[in-house]
Formats: sequence, structure tokens, C-alpha cells
Amino acid sequence: MSLYSDNRRRFQAILNEKGIAAVIPTNTVKVRNHDCDFRFRPDSDFWYLTGFAEPDSWLVLLPGEDGGKSILFLRDKDPLQETWQGRRLGIDAAPDALDVDEARNVDDLWDTLGELLADHTSLMWRTGNDEGRDRRMLEVVADLRRRARGGVQPPVELLDPAPILHELRLFKTEAEVELMRAAAAITTEAHTAAMATAAPGVNECEIDALIDYTFRRRGSTGQAYNNIVAGGANACILHYVENDAPLVDGELLLIDAGAEMDYYASDVTRTFPVNGRFSDAQRAVYEVVLRSQIAAVNAVAPGVPFLHIHEIALNELVDGLIELGVCQGTRASVIQDKSYSRFFMHKTSHWLGLDVHDCGTYTADGKPRKLEVGMVLTVEPGLYFDPSLDGVEPKYVGIGVRIEDDILVTPDGHENLTAAIPKTVDAVEAACADSALATAR
Ligand code: GLY
Ligand code: MN
Ligand code: MN
Repeated sequence: MSLYSDNRRRFQAILNEKGIAAVIPTNTVKVRNHDCDFRFRPDSDFWYLTGFAEPDSWLVLLPGEDGGKSILFLRDKDPLQETWQGRRLGIDAAPDALDVDEARNVDDLWDTLGELLADHTSLMWRTGNDEGRDRRMLEVVADLRRRARGGVQPPVELLDPAPILHELRLFKTEAEVELMRAAAAITTEAHTAAMATAAPGVNECEIDALIDYTFRRRGSTGQAYNNIVAGGANACILHYVENDAPLVDGELLLIDAGAEMDYYASDVTRTFPVNGRFSDAQRAVYEVVLRSQIAAVNAVAPGVPFLHIHEIALNELVDGLIELGVCQGTRASVIQDKSYSRFFMHKTSHWLGLDVHDCGTYTADGKPRKLEVGMVLTVEPGLYFDPSLDGVEPKYVGIGVRIEDDILVTPDGHENLTAAIPKTVDAVEAACADSALATAR
């Protein structure tokens, strides 16, 4: 039994108990330009439940005897289409390969969905993702209503999958954690290779390509999100993705890049000097962010409110900003007047899993949610001294530092999945100087 059929069984057990039928489609292929498509990436809910990465696939789960029934709709084998577009699993092979009860041709989906959903009064369907699909699904439901006089029971409630499915996804199984460790190991290699390879005159795009090369060479399914390779003041643009400027002697390089492994994400940021040695001002800022990040990571444990991790990081950053002379006042007054927010404008953490900003709620019953064993979150404080800001001492202008790790909540506290990536000033400078880690350019 694969981790995906294990996921599906746990989901189905809940659906069965509540008498809910579910229809979960994967993503559609998106046009990039003219007749070229973006590389396909399966929908995370669908992947979680099937481990199947072909487009035009739908999972239908019906409650019933013996744990209910799973039916996968997929494209059938087609030698001509496969010659042009790639191999297909096909209907005959699907039940064994994916451990589903039944496989059917996706061409028959809309003609048979009504029959399958008849007499299931609770239907789980995620609205809002695709208007065309929503319309067709509502047509199926409307048609079942029209047949009510003939004794058919139509769905009377349409349920969002999130409260059940996304709650399951929030808690990682050991098999999922193994994939996230594998993603972290690949990301470790990419970041250390980048530290050793970056130098004045090298372009951000070369480091970007090196990261992608490392991801793919090591068997990653690709980037968990667009790489951010931001030299100097580009680091002050939080989602900088141009990645096309030459690296400058005396500046820092911020890299936020994480590999996926079987679509499970890692999400890591490191910041290091382009020439391998921090200046005094850079080191002073870096040490503040590092202190904040370590304090926040160390606080991760079961029972700790999610927001507390941010509060700890913020306290340390604010203390540091006061020590650096950038903010004036006390910790309490700077937090109260929000003068820190010119330099730290994002939150510290988000859930991590199949999506980089993973599913799962951050509050429960109107209160901040507490961390529980099996959750994975990032911890990523930063300080950004954008050149457009007034009144910043020149030595700090253009410095942007973020440090981000991926943290699993464990019974004893936490496991830092990305701890092997150099982070202290000494470790970072040593990695920058270690030519053995560099990849030939
Ligand atoms: N790389 C996206 C983030 O850190 O949230
Ligand atoms: Mn990140
Ligand atoms: Mn992140």
C-alpha cells in the first residue's frame, strides 16, 4: 500500500462515517503561449489521494459497504496521443498501479457522474477553482434534482473538502516526512553549492540555474516555488524573481529556494556575502536575524500557539533594531508604534507540505491554533533595508537578510529538517570558501 492509498483510506474512512461522496479532480494543463503548455503539476489534493500525475484525471469516492468505493477516471491508452504527448498509465493498469477499486475512461465522466452520485445526499466538491467545472457539476446536481420525482435522492449539501481533507494534509505521516527530509537534503546541496559558487561578477541567473540543476539532478520533481536569487538590494523585494543581475563585490546574496520531492515541498532561505566575508554592518544585521530565527525555532513544540513563534521572532528582531540604532524606544513601544514594520513586513511562519504555503487553518474556534505533533512549519524572520526608505544609516542601506528553515513538530519539541544548511556566520563563510562544494560553471 503506497502512502497515497494510505492517505486515501484515512480520508475515505471519514467520508464513509459521515456518508459523504467526493469528487476530486486534478489540475488542467495550462497554455503557456500559442500551442506550448506549462509543465504539468498535479493538484495537491488529488496527488495526496492518488499519487497520480497525469492530467485529465478525476477521483470519485463513494461511501458504502466495505469502506466505500474509489473510482479513478483517467485517459485511456492511445498510441497516437502518446507519441505526441507522452506515456499514459491507461485504464487497465490503473487499479493495480494506484490501488483504486475501479478505473474508467475520463471521456465518460460527465455521462456517468449523475448515476454515481444519485442517492448520495452529501457531495464534497471544491467550488471556485474552475468555473467551467463548477457549472458542469451544478448541471449534474440539477439533473439529479429533476429526477427526484422518479425516486432519486439528489445531493442536498455541497461541502468544501478543506475541513476534512486539508486537516488531514496538515498532519504529516512518517512516509510524508521522509519525502520532506529528501526534499530538504536536495535543497541543502543546492544552497551549499550556491554559497561556494557565487562570486563577484557571477550573474544571479547562473546561481538560479545551478539551483535548478541540483534539484533535477538529484531527482526532485522541481521547484516548490519560483527561486528567489536576489543580490544586494534586490533582497528587499520579497518575491524578487527576475534573477538576472550581476552579483556585486561587497554585497549580500539572498536565496529563497526549495526543492519538491514527489511534490512535497521544502522552503529555505539563506543569505551570504557574495565575496565570502560579511562586512561589519552586514554581520551585525545578520546576527540579529539569526538570533531571532534560532529563538523562534527553539520555541517550536507541541502546545505552543502558532502565533507565539512570530511573537518570539519579532521580539528579538525589535531588540536588534534598537541595538543597531535603527529603531528608537523600548521593545514594547517599537512593537506598539510598529516602527519595526518598515524593516520586517511579513509574518514568520506558514504551514509547509504539498503546497509551499500549505493548507490548514491558523486558528481554531476563533483562537490562535496550537502546534501539534506532525505539523510542519517554516520559521523565516528577516530584515530589509530598502534603499527607498528614509532615515536609514548608509551602512545598512541595501542590506536584506532572511533566514528560513523547515520545522517538524515532534513529541519532544521539533526537528529542523533543513538544519544541515550552513547558518551561523562561521558556517556560512566556511561554505562560501569551500570550493569542493562548488559546481563547475
Ligand atoms: N518562498 C516563499 C516563502 O518563503 O514563503
Ligand atoms: Mn521561502
Ligand atoms: Mn516560506
